Amino acid sequence: MSSQLYSDLLAQSRALTEDEPDLIANLANISALLYEHIEDINWLGFYLTRSDNELVLGPFQGRVACVRIPFGKGVCGVAAETQTCQRVEDVHQFAGHIACDSASNSEVVAPIVVNGKTVAVLDVDSPSVGRFSEEDAKAIQAIAEHCQTLNWQGLQS
Ligand code: SME
Repeated sequence: MSSQLYSDLLAQSRALTEDEPDLIANLANISALLYEHIEDINWLGFYLTRSDNELVLGPFQGRVACVRIPFGKGVCGVAAETQTCQRVEDVHQFAGHIACDSASNSEVVAPIVVNGKTVAVLDVDSPSVGRFSEEDAKAIQAIAEHCQTLNWQGLQS
């Protein structure tokens, strides 16, 4: 994927959300924007920290997905717990991977951290093994960092 595409997506994510305080609306629009423009993906969305150490499905695009993921479980739970971006070339080699859509073969999960707390993760899945380069992961992490600037105070359990 070209870095120009990702910088455009980051700029559009900023523009879409700059005058809107509603967190869910903003995450929904960002998920739609990214899903439309990132090639060769089959699922993209947010899991939100809704209670201590548990992620709950948030705005997304793609097939029906599992709703609750404990911190530390699966790729999303590891990203949430460790607060580090996870880039998995082949999800079938990742111990504890949670298979929501059997079409998924590779994955990037970027944590969204506000005041030291993981408030959500941004999860992107592809049907292709090794779909995501380091550059893809860095660009997805940059969009997750933009998401840190949204209005997380409104998020309730
Ligand atoms: N595969 C993820 C679960 C979420 S779905 O892919 C939408 C994981 O292992 O955390």
